[in-house]
Amino acid sequence: MKKIAIVGLGFVGAAMSVAIASKLKKRKEKFIVYGLERNNKQGKDICNSFTNGNFPFDTTDNLLIKKTAEVIKNKNLVVTTNKNCLSDCSIIVIDINLDLKKFNESLKDYKKSIIEISKFLKDDVLIIVETTLPPGFCNKIIYPIIKREFVKKNKKIEKLKFVHSYERVMPGKNYIKSITDYFRVYSGINNQSAIAAENFFRSFINTKKYPLCKLDKLEESEFAKILENTYRTVNIALIEEWRSLGEELNIDLFRVIDAIRYRKTHKNIMLPGYGVGGYCLTKDPLFGKISSKKFYKNKFKFPLTQKAMNINKKMPITTLLKIKKIFKNLNFKKILLLGISYKSDVSDTRDSQSKLLYDYLKKNKSILTLHDPLVKYWKESSVDVLNKLPNLNEFDLVVFLVNHDFYKKINFDVKIKNKKITIFDANGVLNKKQINQIKNKRIRLLFNGR
Ligand SMILES: NC(=O)c1ccc[n+]([C@@H]2O[C@H](COP(=O)([O-])OP(=O)(O)OC[C@H]3O[C@@H](n4cnc5c(N)ncnc54)[C@H](O)[C@@H]3O)[C@@H](O)[C@H]2O)c1
Repeated sequence: MKKIAIVGLGFVGAAMSVAIASKLKKRKEKFIVYGLERNNKQGKDICNSFTNGNFPFDTTDNLLIKKTAEVIKNKNLVVTTNKNCLSDCSIIVIDINLDLKKFNESLKDYKKSIIEISKFLKDDVLIIVETTLPPGFCNKIIYPIIKREFVKKNKKIEKLKFVHSYERVMPGKNYIKSITDYFRVYSGINNQSAIAAENFFRSFINTKKYPLCKLDKLEESEFAKILENTYRTVNIALIEEWRSLGEELNIDLFRVIDAIRYRKTHKNIMLPGYGVGGYCLTKDPLFGKISSKKFYKNKFKFPLTQKAMNINKKMPITTLLKIKKIFKNLNFKKILLLGISYKSDVSDTRDSQSKLLYDYLKKNKSILTLHDPLVKYWKESSVDVLNKLPNLNEFDLVVFLVNHDFYKKINFDVKIKNKKITIFDANGVLNKKQINQIKNKRIRLLFNGR
């Protein structure tokens, strides 16, 4: 029987394990996928959730919910906190996190994890590292650790197959399909490794429609991931920089950008927004600098990337200042914040930019109500979040912060009666029809970028 393990069942690994288990099910060869988590509270909670047939994170992807129940029931996916499951696996996918915050601690932790994993490896195993890493990390840190452990145990390192491949998983409505039906980049330490990975990817990715992209060196795959997210980061900062002039000129930047997008080469120019949050865009672009510092004596600086990161970090301040301008005194003002997750249609609240506004308003003693269709409890702020939309008429100010689909269905003709309310669409959430509904009621409506 073929045994495959996914180490780390976070937002990436949890979906990967279900994606693999549900696709392999259709093949003749018998197999089992192990999902390995840490033996701590978080790890045990994730495993318990899976064992009960539930995906461990709230998601709007019904296919993923259905597939999770199926693969657990049929025992195609078995989750555990016991590392012994690794010992006879022929493929191990590493989906553990390397964080930017407290980097040295996280690095120590990551290395320790690799040492632990190495102790259980068969010598001809295929290791696929999916963690987003500072370029150079696989060759300079991970592979040497495994090699040392192999030498200690008299195992042949030549047989080991080692690959880096990065995830482009998007935990929204098409969460599982963003793994099985999407382009995949990878590179192996040698040809044999790349071929093994290619065969594996073909077993669960729709490669006919989404051909695989093989790069030559491990560093190239690591680099591609970082550059991809840095490109996005700089693109966002560019629009944020131009937003202020647009507002001064009373320009609708959304329409201007639509016009620019007619030009094929400019289709992915960003729209103005409220802020940049989440685990990846707040971390990945700075991995270039870390690579330079760790491996190249700080030889390479990244002034443009750093500047873009600074601009993006400050973005929520614009919203905050606009609110301050209207409500000179926020004391006891009833304010509804709509959207707590870091982006649309996900339940992930890591580095959510809603926090900056929440903290500011809380400090100013506003009476705050929080709503998000996908978040029940905001871990980072230790506060409950409503899933049912409250009566909008009870608030002085309603701020749309996250572009959830749910908010696009609000009918303001029906929902709004109180003319004194102020609505602030801080993130391009409302559609034309909704904007007109609000404007027709002569209610004060604010935007970023319009
Ligand atoms: N979240 C995304 O949308 C996304 C997208 C693309 C790439 N990535 C990258 O993928 C990697 C994982 O991201 P994530 O969002 O899933 O992170 P995460 O923090 O949600 O998940 C990591 C999981 O690994 C577990 N873990 C850590 N050490 C372990 C060990 N020794 N044994 C078993 N389990 C262990 C943790 O308990 C955690 O549950 C990161 O490098 C991230 O940058 C994330």
